[in-house]
Amino acid sequence: MALTLQQQRINCQKVLPARDVSSLLEDVRKGLLQTPRKLPAKYFYDDHGSQLFDKICDTKEYYPTRTEDSLLETAASKIIERCKPEHVIELGSGTSRKTRRLLTACEQHCCQVTYWPFDVCEEIVREASEHLVDEYQWLDVNGLVGDYNAGLDHLPRIDGKSLYVFLGGTIGNFEHDDGVAFLSELRKNMSSEDMLLMGADRVKDEGILNAAYNDETGVTAAFNLNLLNVLNREVDADFDSEKFEHHAFFNHDESQIEMHLIATEEQTVKLPVLEEEISFSKGDSILTEISRKFTFFSLSSMLEEAGFCLDEHFSPDNNYFSLVLASPT
Ligand code: AVJ
Repeated sequence: MALTLQQQRINCQKVLPARDVSSLLEDVRKGLLQTPRKLPAKYFYDDHGSQLFDKICDTKEYYPTRTEDSLLETAASKIIERCKPEHVIELGSGTSRKTRRLLTACEQHCCQVTYWPFDVCEEIVREASEHLVDEYQWLDVNGLVGDYNAGLDHLPRIDGKSLYVFLGGTIGNFEHDDGVAFLSELRKNMSSEDMLLMGADRVKDEGILNAAYNDETGVTAAFNLNLLNVLNREVDADFDSEKFEHHAFFNHDESQIEMHLIATEEQTVKLPVLEEEISFSKGDSILTEISRKFTFFSLSSMLEEAGFCLDEHFSPDNNYFSLVLASPT
């Protein structure tokens, strides 16, 4: 079958893992059979979880997505002018919703870039690519399918000035050392003229932070509890989501939101694949996500530790969120 002109502007390739990543089963063994119990946040995002996350972004309490998008809207032109990239490479691109701000600015500055969306989900990469080549008639898209948690060493060598993009505040899901390691690894892949654009959520009034992870409509609670369905489906566990409740709060000492699932009664959960059972007493918790909140200082020192220097900092008047443009030192 002949490719349409649009399809000819789309490529898609796999990025092989640079190191072994633990499987869900290994993470369950490591994370649930020991206390404190915890699981990596990446398992939230099955189909239903991804839909719920989109809904979170539309709740009135969850400000980060909205704030980052409007920052991008005002800063995109300046970012593109300053960087003048030939390539835009986005880690965890999803539906590339916010990236359109950058591509539109590229269009306005006659900056003909190739866009490289990198995501674990091939479907999403393909779908986003098709929409984008439709919307931007000049754009070439080279989709990258892989898991950035498995390392970045096998990203294709890209010739020409590149802008690496890591949005959404996802850097906050990493503990400090892991975040620095991740950024350092990215840094190793960059040439001296490349730049990084990253979004990060800021420390602010605790009431605002707590509300953002405890929306009135209960979408965040459903998102958190959906993790139990993922475990039931993927590792044949038998969690009863009625016997757990969502608990999210700002941990001041760690400067992070923590999301937990709390057992509302004593219970035993079967894990036949591991020939194990997990016993919960009432009140026992599973830590399902950390979302770190940065000060301008903690953000710039993390970047510095990873070998970057800060070129531009964009933030709204209320300092709710930061977009940083940084270069390898
Ligand atoms: C997508 C990781 C940035 O930490 O705020 C939203 C995920 N969790 N509500 C965040 C999330 C609960 C989100 N990140």
